[in-house]
Amino acid sequence: MQDLFFELFESLPRQGPGLAACTARALALCRGLLAAPSVLDLGCGAGAQTLHLAALLPAAHIVAVDLHPPHIQRLRAERHRQGLGGRLEPQVADMRRLRDERSALGLPDGGVDLIWSEGALYNLGLAPALQLCRDLLRPGGCLAFTDAVWRRDDPPPELRAAFESDYPGMGRVEDDLALLRAGGFELLGHFSLPDAAWWEDFYTPMQARIAELRHRHAGDALAQALLDSLALESEMHRRHGDGYAYEFFVARLPEPHAPLA
Ligand SMILES: C[S@@+](CC[C@H](N)C(=O)[O-])C[C@H]1O[C@@H](n2cnc3c(N)ncnc32)[C@H](O)[C@@H]1O
Repeated sequence: MQDLFFELFESLPRQGPGLAACTARALALCRGLLAAPSVLDLGCGAGAQTLHLAALLPAAHIVAVDLHPPHIQRLRAERHRQGLGGRLEPQVADMRRLRDERSALGLPDGGVDLIWSEGALYNLGLAPALQLCRDLLRPGGCLAFTDAVWRRDDPPPELRAAFESDYPGMGRVEDDLALLRAGGFELLGHFSLPDAAWWEDFYTPMQARIAELRHRHAGDALAQALLDSLALESEMHRRHGDGYAYEFFVARLPEPHAPLA
């Protein structure tokens, strides 16, 4: 049944909420980027935002990592199709091991200029993920990531239960801001993703794909039950989307101050 889950997600334009316009808005908040920055995209999925970043930063060198090999194969095929070889390096890697693998991945010794991560840092827990980003960024480097946050203190029980298994540590915007401060980051800005970011490239194609898979697996009760449970996610968003949000956070590591003469 895991195959069916992957078959669904691998075929979607994106593997989580997001929108090209939001990637561009977050990038515009980054300060002090070099003309040819080194970029690391953590949990890139099939790379929708990676490709958009490559277009927005035409001189950047981007290393994009994901745990799931088919996503990386798809991104490599797209790199080839778009002629991005040489400046986009999709790699299968576990974020948790990046500190030890940075030279193998070709990351600069002094740290990268920009870390990007849409919908993936929560897999590590936000505090450990921010520590990892701190270790991989150069002083003055920027971090842009999205994270699911509660919008209400009293979410309906079915909504709370849905997030309990996926993201038990999910907090409010203020909690993420406090973690950024505690991690030594300077905030450059944050904003909530609009509703279109949930539907255009994610839930609408997901619903269409679920309908196709239902047809293909007609008569398979297990497959139908899994597809029912996957269909619940967008239905939950339609009913309770005011209870939570995906927030884009953009922050920066301070530069060390030069000693006074
Ligand atoms: C919600 S998806 C987001 C994908 C993509 N950034 C997007 O917005 O379309 C999260 C991604 O994180 C990846 N992931 C989860 N844990 C990971 C880890 N420890 N190291 C690398 N990637 C991981 C998953 O394989 C998945 O592709």
